[in-house]
Amino acid sequence: MNKGHPAAAITGLGIYLPAKILSNHDLEKMVDTSDEWIKQRTGISQRRIAESHETTFTMAYEAGKNALKMAKLRPEEIDLVICATLIPEHPFPSTASLVQAALGATKAGAFDLEAACAGFVYALGVARAFIHSGMARVVLVIGSETMSRVVDWEDRSTCVLFGDGAGAAIVQASFDEKAGAILEVALKSDGSKADCLIIPAGGSRYPTTENTVRDKLHFLRMNGAEVFKAAVRAMADTTLEALKHSDLQLSDLNLMIAHQANSRIIDAVQKRLELPDGISYQNLERYGNTSSASIPLALYDAMQEGRLKQGMYLAVAGFGGGFSWGATIIKWGLNPEN
Ligand code: UT7
Repeated sequence: MNKGHPAAAITGLGIYLPAKILSNHDLEKMVDTSDEWIKQRTGISQRRIAESHETTFTMAYEAGKNALKMAKLRPEEIDLVICATLIPEHPFPSTASLVQAALGATKAGAFDLEAACAGFVYALGVARAFIHSGMARVVLVIGSETMSRVVDWEDRSTCVLFGDGAGAAIVQASFDEKAGAILEVALKSDGSKADCLIIPAGGSRYPTTENTVRDKLHFLRMNGAEVFKAAVRAMADTTLEALKHSDLQLSDLNLMIAHQANSRIIDAVQKRLELPDGISYQNLERYGNTSSASIPLALYDAMQEGRLKQGMYLAVAGFGGGFSWGATIIKWGLNPEN
């Protein structure tokens, strides 16, 4: 496992979810949709929605604080804070810097990472590289998203899909075999599909004007069918690539966590990989698609439900705007009861 360098082990997880629940039945009163359609086509029953005092930063901070607590570390022990988000607190400064200050992580560097819904997998890859190179010993990796602030609540094809929340992991240098390791990470992109999943305005291409607001260019736009097809192929293929680099077989996997966007996508990835039934974890029924928060929320829930045990091999795959996607193979070590 360690080729002269420490392993990058996940030693703490933390989440934050807004208390406010928006159910499919609530959505029936807002747009022309039905509980039946949403459940059948996506698997989602409800999602969490941030209140006005809850933002990408406040949720990231709470999730980070909880992960730190589970890892039994002090804020000053953090070397780097990475916040994966597509809805940062501000265009700049970074949300990660705000979290660094609020936590009192006085010795840490901090930056945001934007790889849309694949952001958390990308951030795990960066954390692992920092640890393997010796540039950091403790990295706080966060995925935090306030999707409700960028969906068009009049567009039934997107507004039923997304939810808010945050999840965080402590990735720590370790020579203890039992602590587990992020074994391999494979990251990919196809920017020729940028228009398929995009918030067009608010950046340098279309700075905010009265026209961009009137034309709804600050809302998320998605070509659902294109994203669906690409997501299945991409998450399955990179999982295979990451497995190959880990010298593991599909049959070694104990659990698969794919980005929680649509239960039909998750089922199709499982089928494409010919994985046995029941191996794919799903919690999107409760939270919808929380973009870069979806993977850490799923890791946390899977651990709490006893689905993750020390020594298990886990595949984690993410896919989103860019297109950008990736997969990582993790040997699980974290046991919150220790
Ligand atoms: O996080 C980034 C990754 N994102 C994703 O992975 C999302 C990927 N895409 C999807 O999950 C699916 O494509 C959707 C859930 C977005 C859509 O499902 P679909 O089976 O591809 O439906 P569709 O877009 O082909 O629409 C089928 C029908 C359409 O009506 P017609 O044209 O057949 O009359 C839509 O207008 O369903 C209609 N429709 C709805 N009906 C009721 C679309 N949204 C709704 C809705 N309620 N909310």
